[in-house]
Amino acid sequence: MKITNICCIGAGYVGGPTMAVIAEKCPHIKVTVVDLNEARIAAWNDEDVNNIPIYEPGLNEIVANTRNKNLFFSTAVDQAIDEAQLIFISVNTPTKTYGTGKGMAADLKHIELCARQIAKVAKNDKIIVEKSTLPVRTAEALKSILDNTGNGVQFQILSNPEFLAEGTAVQDLLHPDRVLIGGETTPEGQQAIESLVDVYANWVPKERILKTNVWSSELSKLTANAFLAQRVSSINAMSELCEKTEANVNEVAKAIGMDSRIGSKFLKASVGFGGSCFQKDILNLVYISKAFGLNEVADYWEQVIIMNDHQKRRFSRNIVQTLYNTVSGKKIAFLGWAFKKDTNDTRESAAIYVADDLINEQANIALYDPKVGHQQVLADLDYLDTRKPADNEKHIHTFDNPYMACENAHAVAILTEWDEFKDYDWKKIYDSMLKPAFIFDGRNLLDAEKMRAIGFVYQSIGS
Ligand code: NAD
Ligand code: UDX
Repeated sequence: MKITNICCIGAGYVGGPTMAVIAEKCPHIKVTVVDLNEARIAAWNDEDVNNIPIYEPGLNEIVANTRNKNLFFSTAVDQAIDEAQLIFISVNTPTKTYGTGKGMAADLKHIELCARQIAKVAKNDKIIVEKSTLPVRTAEALKSILDNTGNGVQFQILSNPEFLAEGTAVQDLLHPDRVLIGGETTPEGQQAIESLVDVYANWVPKERILKTNVWSSELSKLTANAFLAQRVSSINAMSELCEKTEANVNEVAKAIGMDSRIGSKFLKASVGFGGSCFQKDILNLVYISKAFGLNEVADYWEQVIIMNDHQKRRFSRNIVQTLYNTVSGKKIAFLGWAFKKDTNDTRESAAIYVADDLINEQANIALYDPKVGHQQVLADLDYLDTRKPADNEKHIHTFDNPYMACENAHAVAILTEWDEFKDYDWKKIYDSMLKPAFIFDGRNLLDAEKMRAIGFVYQSIGS
């Protein structure tokens, strides 16, 4: 099938950027991104392209080029489903917060709703593409829902997981290491795969488009995230050992990373990984493994999460201990709240957990993040449900100027590796702080020698 009309259900961090790039690279295809969230769609359609709901370097230019030409954002879900030959499902699949599998399994309610909606609306054959990250064998459930509509429509289900990382989404989409497409081994399944290959082949070299069976594709996505997160937890585990032995984790990471079998990426010690994917996908992997009775497999991967939780907690514990075992009533400046630089996404950011711990100790947090505002910060803390929203509000203040956030602070904690933090006038910040002035660098971002020369008591991760 030659694809000329695509619908994507879910206008989030994956659906929005992915469809914008498809629209940019495939001017002959009409791409409609739909979402139930009216405010989100309105923001995607905002006249000022700088107000689109997701901050990603380069994204607003692509949206400006394509929007209302061949890229459309809409809440008219049924119409978009009806018109499309190929439908990406790109809705959220968070960790379940209720019932069986609570805190572990992926919540597939949004996925199932999409399948039922498609089944209800579709009048002609369609290709359904799993873009969301899903437990292995979800396509089976989708197929069962779609094939039991009784209206004679044929559906092919493909798995096409997304590997973009936030902050570099546009570059990752324009130049992917690989595109993975899983489909049924039947002739119809293979035809559907080829239809999607033809879309990507407009800009991705064919040798980078991998074709597999559906289950391998679904499981590869969980595996990729588990391996990446495992590297971060591995280097973070070594960071604690470095702190006890006068080894320096940056030097260790460089030394091992030069071994081409290990490679240098994802070896940056940090306050802990965040983001909407790593923890959720590993918990899902653990849950699936347990469901098959593979307890050792489950325990092995769960340790990645246990290590990450430990890393976040020991960062906040160290702040309290270093500040003479009390932060009660003290002002601690936080630089950064997003889970990594170049994104406004805060989901599972380590900053949330560190703030929560410090507020438990009655600290007052003064926050600056270049892309995250006060309401989001409060929403993140309220979501943890540790204390009343009014108490969160009392203990956290956001500033739109980093120098004001740091003024009269006892300590600065760096939680996100925003480049701009390196360029600040740190002497000025030092002069404005209470003495001794501490920096707890959770991202090993600043130059230790320079900071110590200014007068700071400077601590980084793993040295
Ligand atoms: P998101 O929460 O940013 O976006 C999902 C959107 O789907 C929301 O706007 C929500 O309103 C919408 N939605 C939910 N149910 C709907 C329905 N029935 N009809 C219409 N819209 C509906 O999530 P995201 O970060 O874009 O992630 C989407 C999926 O992609 C997840 O499975 C995630 O694991 C996976 N993924 C995410 C990333 C990432 O970096 N964020 C990367 C790779 C894969
Ligand atoms: C991840 C995967 O990289 C991506 O392929 C997948 O599609 C979605 O999940 P993302 O979560 O957006 O992407 O960002 P990523 O760059 O992987 O960073 C995740 C977290 O790990 C961040 O908090 C980051 O700061 C942290 N991290 C990453 C480290 O602490 N050290 C590192 O060396 C790398």
